[in-house]
Amino acid sequence: MDISKALAGARLDKLSRQPMYLQIAGIIGEKIQDMVFSDGTRLPPERELAELFGVSRTTAINAYRYLEKQGLVFAREGSGTYVAEVPAARKDGGRRVPWVQLMTPFPKLPLSTMLREILTPNVSGGSMAGMPDPAFYPVDLLRQIFAGDNKSMDPVDLGHIATEGYDHLRRLVARMLVGRSIETTMENVMITAGSQQALYLIGKAMLEPGDYVVVESPTFIGAHQVFSASGARILGLPVARQFPFSLLEDYLIRYRPKLLYLIPTYHNPTGRLMPENERRELLRLAARHRLVVVEDDPYSELYYDEKPPVSLKGMDAYGGVVYLSTFSKVLFPGLRTGYVVAHPALLNRMAMEKQFIDLHSNNLAQWFLCQFLQSGLLPGHLALVRGEYKKRRNALSKALRRYCGEELFFEAPRGGFFIWCRINRSILSSRLLQQVFGAGVSFVPGEAFYVHPREGERELRLCFVTQAEKALQESARRLARALAQLKRAGKESAVLANQPVKPIV
Ligand SMILES: Cc1ncc(COP(=O)(O)O)c(C=O)c1O
Repeated sequence: MDISKALAGARLDKLSRQPMYLQIAGIIGEKIQDMVFSDGTRLPPERELAELFGVSRTTAINAYRYLEKQGLVFAREGSGTYVAEVPAARKDGGRRVPWVQLMTPFPKLPLSTMLREILTPNVSGGSMAGMPDPAFYPVDLLRQIFAGDNKSMDPVDLGHIATEGYDHLRRLVARMLVGRSIETTMENVMITAGSQQALYLIGKAMLEPGDYVVVESPTFIGAHQVFSASGARILGLPVARQFPFSLLEDYLIRYRPKLLYLIPTYHNPTGRLMPENERRELLRLAARHRLVVVEDDPYSELYYDEKPPVSLKGMDAYGGVVYLSTFSKVLFPGLRTGYVVAHPALLNRMAMEKQFIDLHSNNLAQWFLCQFLQSGLLPGHLALVRGEYKKRRNALSKALRRYCGEELFFEAPRGGFFIWCRINRSILSSRLLQQVFGAGVSFVPGEAFYVHPREGERELRLCFVTQAEKALQESARRLARALAQLKRAGKESAVLANQPVKPIV
């Protein structure tokens, strides 16, 4: 077994409070206990181990020392470090199941561990994930609906239902979409376990290894990951002031991509709103090339100034737009309920894939949504969250201008959850995150959203909806302090670097 290769995929959590040497020892120890590394195997020399994990040689030495104390490895003078013969942890006679060996390889995905970390509430400290504020989850309405006399709850509805979802909910969603200028019927609507599942199903239904998919760069990590996991090759369209039509046309001619994935309204992560003229031009181009456009639209109801332009789906005359949306951002993410509007041929194929995963989405969540939408409760709830989130957007934008004015460039978004910032100095956003994390401030570094590694190193995504105005102001102040500290540290190191080297006499 190539030990270095087996360790190459492992990543350290640089933000963890656990020291690096313990993390490395943990990774190696697990492989020994799971018998991925067998007795007597020579482990990489300390220098190589240090390089593999991007740490100092001392850290690598400490990791081996720790494993030695545990009886899992031993050092042979002048020869190296080896897996111990009968480590105490394997006194069970080696009958442990070698889990790691039994599992299929997981594709190397862009930043998959990062997405998991961001979604772990105790790690994120609450402000990174782009979640709505739990204070606005409609808990009272949820209680009322479940505590009501519920005559509409037919026990039959609690059995298996169609994979595409409750007919009643599909009809209500179709009716709701009229408000977004989308004319559709139940047959074109499928209920999914969130938009994330819809993206996965589209990948399964449409993509084969080697197919090309065009995405905006930066874009939503979850989409990038599922398309990559299908084996698709990803082409990035830079998100800029103007949509890069000529580059897209070039891609269409050169690569004939299977689909184009876009978030035209309050884009994640940049907050960009695609203007109406661009939407029309894009649809003209897409129709000419018979290009499938996947329009991901979780945020269009969360506008804080004027209403956004009509969705691509609402303007789609050639039938090539697949529309996704979700209740995660407007109600609460734990509902895990989203919907797709597409041609029945695609929905049918997606439903076949969905059967393999979960047969159909959860009945209780669907039933709740039927009651909620039918009772006309959504518009009032939307008005409430729009009002509150608007105040928060204003508060964070103002505080950033006041405290970080020189250091950060951003444009206040007209809706959605995020403010996208660029650092006006040569400070890496990942370094900034390390600096502010201890002070209870968190954000997502820009590189998490890019197609190519190393892009977005000086960008960051701040989420303004999860915290109240005061907390946002304080976060901006701490961010400014961290930026100032890093600026000072940068200057000091520059001074040190320029000092003449004095010979030691
Ligand atoms: C653009 C975009 N698409 C899809 C999703 C996933 O939403 P859901 O919770 O419905 O799976 C998100 C969530 O962050 C998102 O920002």
